[in-house]
Amino acid sequence: MKLSPPMTSEAPLHPKSPMRSPLRTALSLVAALLLLAPVAHADAKKAERMWKSKCQSCHGKDGKGQTDKGKKMQVKDLSAADFQAKVTDDELKKAIKDGTKTEKDGVKKEMDSYADLTDEQLADLIAYVRALKP
Ligand code: HEC
Repeated sequence: MKLSPPMTSEAPLHPKSPMRSPLRTALSLVAALLLLAPVAHADAKKAERMWKSKCQSCHGKDGKGQTDKGKKMQVKDLSAADFQAKVTDDELKKAIKDGTKTEKDGVKKEMDSYADLTDEQLADLIAYVRALKP
């Protein structure tokens, strides 16, 4: 009579490929994270400072635009999931670089152009805006 196999079966749950062992993959991931972490951290700090000094007065710390100026201009909620889903990084970049000037239902919406920002600074700010997403 045959009993069911014991729980401590030797058979691997996932077939192991000889080229890419899970340990190797894990180690290279850790190495990659260690390399990236300090840089990402520095950029986030820079972006936060830029946001605070240049953008926060209208958009608020959380990007929801609930500041005096933001409310007056009915600035859209930059953290909103639907806005984040439809806006591209290029569009974000263009808006920050060129600014915006529109008028809707008698509400003037104006944002200065930040044409003097470097591509790196723009990328940091775009990352900041993306991170506002809930
Ligand atoms: C004087 C107020 C003001 C300041 C300061 C300001 N903005 Fe804006 N921003 C606006 C207004 C107004 C809009 C248009 C909002 C709308 O259409 O609802 C806007 C729109 C945007 C948008 C959305 C563009 C789109 O595709 O709809 C982004 C992204 C943005 N601002 C980022 C920034 C960043 C980054 C900074 C700082 C470098 C900044 N803003 C500084 C007022 C401001």
